[in-house]
Amino acid sequence: MRNRNQILALILLIIQTTSILQAQNEDHKQIVAHYTAAAKNGGDAAKGKLVFESEKSNCRKCHTVGKKEVKAGPDLMVIGDKFDRDQIIRSILEPSAQIHPDHASHAVTTVDGKVITGVLQFQSNEALELINEKGELITIAKEDIDEQLRSNTSLMPADLYKVINESEFSDLVQYLTTLKQKDRIAYPGMPDTFETVAKQARVEALHDDSHRFDHPVCIIAKPGSKNTYMIVEQKTRHIYQLSITPEGQKKHLWADLSHEAITGTYEGVLCLAFHPDFLHNRKYYLNYHVRENDIFSPVIVERTAVEDLSHDTGGASRRLLKIEQPTVLHWGGMLAFGPDGYLYIGAGDGGPQEDPLGNGQNLGLHLGKILRIDVDHRDAGLPYSIPKDNPFRNAGEKALPEIWAYGFRMPWRFSWDSKTKEMYVGDIGQNLYEEINMPKLGENHGWNVYEAFTPFSRQYLRNGETFTPPVIAYRRKHGVSVTGGYVYRGNRSPSYVGKYIFADFETKTIWALTQKNRKLVDVRVIGKVPEKPCSFGVDHDGELFIVGYQGTIYKLILDDSLYN
Ligand code: HEC
Repeated sequence: MRNRNQILALILLIIQTTSILQAQNEDHKQIVAHYTAAAKNGGDAAKGKLVFESEKSNCRKCHTVGKKEVKAGPDLMVIGDKFDRDQIIRSILEPSAQIHPDHASHAVTTVDGKVITGVLQFQSNEALELINEKGELITIAKEDIDEQLRSNTSLMPADLYKVINESEFSDLVQYLTTLKQKDRIAYPGMPDTFETVAKQARVEALHDDSHRFDHPVCIIAKPGSKNTYMIVEQKTRHIYQLSITPEGQKKHLWADLSHEAITGTYEGVLCLAFHPDFLHNRKYYLNYHVRENDIFSPVIVERTAVEDLSHDTGGASRRLLKIEQPTVLHWGGMLAFGPDGYLYIGAGDGGPQEDPLGNGQNLGLHLGKILRIDVDHRDAGLPYSIPKDNPFRNAGEKALPEIWAYGFRMPWRFSWDSKTKEMYVGDIGQNLYEEINMPKLGENHGWNVYEAFTPFSRQYLRNGETFTPPVIAYRRKHGVSVTGGYVYRGNRSPSYVGKYIFADFETKTIWALTQKNRKLVDVRVIGKVPEKPCSFGVDHDGELFIVGYQGTIYKLILDDSLYN
């Protein structure tokens, strides 16, 4: 009987606690509603600045406004360009609703049971550094760590309303909306506004609704098979083959990498490249994430398809390269064969924010580079060989031989114009700009000495370096994360031929640009994607696809009346 009473008491307790929590939830919702309503009508920016600077609001503890200091939260110098008023309100009242992965917090449990939470600043084989909510840098030895988890809760406190009232909040929001980018110099490659074409491009789902994908990040036309595509799913780490015939659509699992690759918010399997001679040697290559000895790294692997090419063989991958990362940020994610038949790999600066270690300029690291290797031959001690004209092939200790070009932050997607063989790289930016670069062998594209056209830091500036600026950069008001695309060489839309098509992952805007000698000639907004565009693809006829991160692959139908 006692047992039964205990159970009943427990049930009652659970019901009570749940209703208290629900009530708290309701209270919080109401507070959010009141504060939101108050801030909608604007406030006094000058007063809001004082609120922001005040000790009671605590904002300055975790945020800078255009100063180079290490803080747990992002710099808010251009938050008024990045977010509209509603988004600013929401990011303050409900910080955990949408957390930028670059600023996610990590909870580390130590072997003696302490939990330390903070934003990851740096990791090595020996230690981990977190910035906690007080802005302190905490070093934890790797041997003292029991468990390390990325948290879904923002480090930013959600109970701000306890210290500032509704009118102070309106002023604070007003102040943040005024924080916008000021450019003293107008760069020809950085238009302030973009013209929009009269007839916008359309998108059409490539597949039936029943064939939607789970976080797709890459579509590649299968060599030798018209209307057959390989689609990479980041999180499930599956690769699917999708065939579209007049009789119908067929989708089947082609490879499963879940036993080799790890996954996370944006981590997983990221890109696939078929060997130029795939039809004969059946080889293909992947860029995916692993965690080994607690260090997170992207790896480049080789795999093989079965004889009739209908599936992957299912064996273990042959690993070619591992790019060890100091944090879990900015890992690149791209690989593709260039027109010269060599494999090009995009490596990010490895984090943390602003590249304080200078990895992009450090030729002794793979980080922040475009790498190039020859997968068909092997040099002594390497599972690949170094192409003869790689710029640092014979640099000895001074530079790594795989480096082909450097000074990148997060070269997420790149491609070549199939006609001119020029390379285009979409490099995801830091605080102010997104950029498209057109690198050539051995060039330095600036990061973190430059961010796009503007000087960023002199800390790692070497004497005698020359820097190649991007073809185009765009400001925060136009987007926050560039997705590199392709130069259109299809037949359907002649007026678009030769134009480079790219997009922004957050604003979902699609642009078409023309350049000459890497100088911007013309750029226009040509449309919007319904889902966040994380990648582009191209079919055997040169027509383009856009990969929507929410699950749809779209055909991009360019309206041919662009210049008519
Ligand atoms: C304890 C540290 C901390 C404090 C205090 C804090 N923030 Fe934050 N804030 C963060 C972190 C970490 C993020 C990034 C994660 C996220 O999006 O929640 C963030 C994100 C933001 C963002 C979104 C920025 C972006 O670029 O996505 C805004 C706006 C913001 N904070 C404003 C404020 C304001 C205003 C205050 C003071 C009232 C404040 N924060 C206080 C840590 C803090």
